[in-house]
Amino acid sequence: MLASNSALWLRSVADTLWHGRFEGGPTEALQALNDSLPFDQRMFTEDIAGSRAHLDMLASIGLMTDDERTAIAGALEQVEKELGDGSFVFAPSDEDIHTAVERRVTELAPAGAKLHTGRSRNDQVATDLRLWTRHALVETGDLVVALQRTLLARADDHAEAYLPGYTHLQQAMPVMLRHHLLAHGWALARDVDRLLDAHRRTNVSPLGAGALAGSSLPLDPDQTAAALGFAGRFENSMDAVSDRDFVADSLYALTMLGVHLSRIGEEMILWASQEFGFVTLDDGFSTGSSMMPQKKNPDIAELARGKAGRLVGHLTGLLVTLKGLPLTYNKDLQEDKEPLFDAFDTVRLTLLALDGMLSTLQFNVEVMAAQADSPYSVATDLAEYLVLAGMPFREAHAVVGELVRRALDGEGSLPELVARHAQLGEGALVLFEPGRGATGRVSPGSGGAAPVAEQRDRFAVQLERDTARLAELGS
Ligand code: ARG
Repeated sequence: MLASNSALWLRSVADTLWHGRFEGGPTEALQALNDSLPFDQRMFTEDIAGSRAHLDMLASIGLMTDDERTAIAGALEQVEKELGDGSFVFAPSDEDIHTAVERRVTELAPAGAKLHTGRSRNDQVATDLRLWTRHALVETGDLVVALQRTLLARADDHAEAYLPGYTHLQQAMPVMLRHHLLAHGWALARDVDRLLDAHRRTNVSPLGAGALAGSSLPLDPDQTAAALGFAGRFENSMDAVSDRDFVADSLYALTMLGVHLSRIGEEMILWASQEFGFVTLDDGFSTGSSMMPQKKNPDIAELARGKAGRLVGHLTGLLVTLKGLPLTYNKDLQEDKEPLFDAFDTVRLTLLALDGMLSTLQFNVEVMAAQADSPYSVATDLAEYLVLAGMPFREAHAVVGELVRRALDGEGSLPELVARHAQLGEGALVLFEPGRGATGRVSPGSGGAAPVAEQRDRFAVQLERDTARLAELGS
């Protein structure tokens, strides 16, 4: 279906949309650079939806007879079918999807020559892209929620498990595994929120803005906006055709999401390493080496990490394209689609693969626990034990710090030194019991067992709320 040979097409002046004004046809070099059909044909459904709304509006303001309207509506249906089943034959004159659809409609119904009344490709392309983006944002949101559900399910699989929490990638304080997995889950919740926020600003109709200044005809942009399910219409026709904020908003939401996926990816790479050994990846979601028979590689996680760079590039590229553009439409704006489409495609593939990888990997909870039960991991809890006995925290920190240093110097194990210490003593040894450091924390939102159980329920509620918000927009 892809018109990959478009660069080679030779077009005569009669084939162009501007043949009245021009004597000579476009050169091959111009067409090769100018044509957007190879990448914008994926918006055909949206282009046809926009044309239907515009057609009905023209009929209701008396610029289209009932017969003309019926004929054009029939042609639009036929074109949609042809584009949908791959039988549509692109013509050399088809510079973009808008040109292609209109050309074929007019072939099928001569009244199609009236379809572009009061419309420009400038408001048309902005409309198509908003419709396409609106749908893609909801679809992406659904995939993010699916990944969040996987994180929650895996967290619940190991409700009792705990592992070291890290700062500076040094073991810091142990936490419940659920706490760690849900930390990623909450970041993804913000991504869903950002996608929905981008949706709100995307959901405004530019149709009826014309080329830049509207029309002398009595168009009704409120009618087309409502027919296309937009929340409202543009306020200013110049802004309507030059605004690509919604593309930048979407790219930022996708890039931030991609950055979060890259951080999950990086941790899984570390956790699957021989040095950590916290997880074992499923064979179906890992790769081998062509030379080293023993290797099992976390390619999905690495690509989740790597694809984020590409997303940052798309966001940066679009912002540079928009920077300094004068009002209103400039052909530079045609550069909005490829990064946007690729960003959605990239995030989609990454979400699906990462979801599969996380659903199937095995958590080695004994390995995690063994690391988390290192006596040094409860150092902060020892200091807080002294605080509860009335010692100022600064002083308690120094007391425990000194015991740690002496233990590392070989004066005895940390528990031995604690047992012998006047203010700590045997009573503090309870803190060294396996899992005690991870489970025992009590402050709200912390990594202890009780607050994490509560957090888990809040997360589940948030998930249901987001699922409903997305379903409402998707319908
Ligand atoms: N293919 C163009 C785009 O993607 C459509 C708008 C063309 N408008 C124009 N005045 N040449 O932006």
